[in-house]
Parts: sequence; C-alpha cells; structure tokens
Amino acid sequence: MLSYRHIYHAGNFADVLKHLVLARVLRHLTAKDKPLCYLDTHAGSGSYALQSVAALQNREFDSGIGRLWERTDLPAPVAGYVELVRAANPGGALHQYPGSPWFARHLLRQQDRLLLCELHSDDFMRLRRHCEGDRRVRISEADGFRELLALLPPPERRGLVLIDPPYEIKTDYQTVVDTLIGAHRRFATGVYAIWYPVVERERVRLLERKVKASGIRHVQRFELSVRPDSMGHGMTGSGMLVVNPPWTLAAEMATALPYLAEVLGDRDGSGRPIGGYRCEILAGE
Ligand SMILES: C[S@@+](CC[C@H](N)C(=O)[O-])C[C@H]1O[C@@H](n2cnc3c(N)ncnc32)[C@H](O)[C@@H]1O
Repeated sequence: MLSYRHIYHAGNFADVLKHLVLARVLRHLTAKDKPLCYLDTHAGSGSYALQSVAALQNREFDSGIGRLWERTDLPAPVAGYVELVRAANPGGALHQYPGSPWFARHLLRQQDRLLLCELHSDDFMRLRRHCEGDRRVRISEADGFRELLALLPPPERRGLVLIDPPYEIKTDYQTVVDTLIGAHRRFATGVYAIWYPVVERERVRLLERKVKASGIRHVQRFELSVRPDSMGHGMTGSGMLVVNPPWTLAAEMATALPYLAEVLGDRDGSGRPIGGYRCEILAGE
C-alpha cells in the first residue's frame, strides 16, 4: 500500500531543485531537432492545486516556489524555471504547482515522446486526465523501475530518464542504483536524472559510493540543503545526480545553487542562512 502523496510536498524546496535541473536538461536536449524520448519512472499526478486541503496542510510551497515568486533578482537559470511555473499559472497568482510531466510536456516538441509511470491509482487517474488528448504521451500504472528496464533503449536513441521515487521504502535506495546500472547497460548514452532526499546523510553517502563503484562515467551531483544535516529529523536537503549531463548544466547550477541556498535556506538567530549546496563531479567523463 503506497502512502506517499506528492500533493503534500508540491512546490517545496526539493521540487524547486528537481524541476530546475529537469528544465535545464530539457532545454538543452530540445535545442537539437532530433526526436527525444522522456521517461518518468515516478510521474505523480502532473499538476498540484496549492489551495487544496492537502497542499495547505503544511504549506511546503511557501518555503519553496513561494519564496521565488515575487523576487526580481533571480539568476538566469532560476528565472527560466520560475517563468515556466508562471506559464502554469496564467492568472498571475500562484495557484497551481506543475509536476515533472507538466514541465516535460511543456518543453518537449511534436516529434518527442513521453513515457510516464505512476503506481498510485488516484494519482494515475489524475495523471491520465492531465495528459488527456496529448498523443505524445503513454502512461502506465506500473512499477516505474521495472517498466524503465523494459522500455530501454528507446528507438529515438536520445532520451532523458527522470527517476524520482518517494524513498518511502528504504529499499528504494538500492533499487535506484540497481535500476540505474541496468538502464545504463541498455542505454549508455541516455541522460539520467535521479532525485534523492537528505534525511540521513549516511544513506546519501552509501548511494554515492554505489554509483561511483558502478563504473558509470560522467556523473554530476547538485544538492541543496536548507539546514544542516540532522540524523533522521526530517528532510534537510535534497539532491540530483545527473548521468551524462549537458555540458552547460554545471555552470548553470553553479550560478543557481548559491542563490537558492541564500533564499530558500532557513536562518539562524542573526538572520544568516544555515543551508548549503554541493555542485560537484562524482565521476569524470
Ligand atoms: C516524488 S513523487 C513524484 C513527483 C513527480 N516526479 C514530480 O516531480 O512532479 C513519487 C511518485 O511515485 C509514485 N510511486 C511510488 N512507487 C512507485 C513505483 N514503484 N512505480 C511508479 N510510481 C511509484 C508515488 O505514488 C508518487 O506519486
């Protein structure tokens, strides 16, 4: 029984980082005319109503997208991401937070395809409604890890895979590594973006060690923390591992991350931000 529902977290600081990276990678990949395949193993429902009871329960969006919404000093990559969220809110006020399928549908072209997996039946139904009439999209109510391995390599031979599990079950950390290795064996030139939470630093270190030990080359890591690590007392940060990143990504994130740490980070008694960021190469080319 799946209990994780993304609506409670939509638009939080972790979504900001994830969707910023997703948007930058898609912008880069769509600069070439050649068709592209986007695979989202854990797609969610596509879009989230921020005035819903669930989203308002903890108002996580207030300390994520909410802090960027009115800013006039956004660095270019962050400004591009906020513009996309604005496009999902044509009325001008922040009512809707777009999910990864929305960003992908918005940025991809007619020649591209989207393959989306969502296992929770309610979110699957919402996702189906969200994508209704979009002939580029195929949705499966299936385990995204398994489905991904069955779908690779895509006939287009160009693709982006987003792996964004809830880590509700601790085996997800291992499954992510196993799936990445299996997927990379089938489709070594694909771009892979893997989201992870920082709840217990040791789990992140282990994930990192396993990715390094896999021998997969060309891996970068972008991490944003809003407060220092604390053993198991909630999510203090989150990161994205990107395999085969566009050559432009590291410089864009080097501009975006210090800004995000400053604006989204919690503050100490003197008003200084207590978060931080990492922008580094985990494996060279
Ligand atoms: C973090 S949310 C996804 C958010 C989405 N990628 C976005 O950025 O908007 C994770 C989703 O994975 C779904 N899920 C959990 N286990 C799954 C599995 N094995 N396969 C596919 N979906 C799964 C959950 O129901 C949830 O909607």
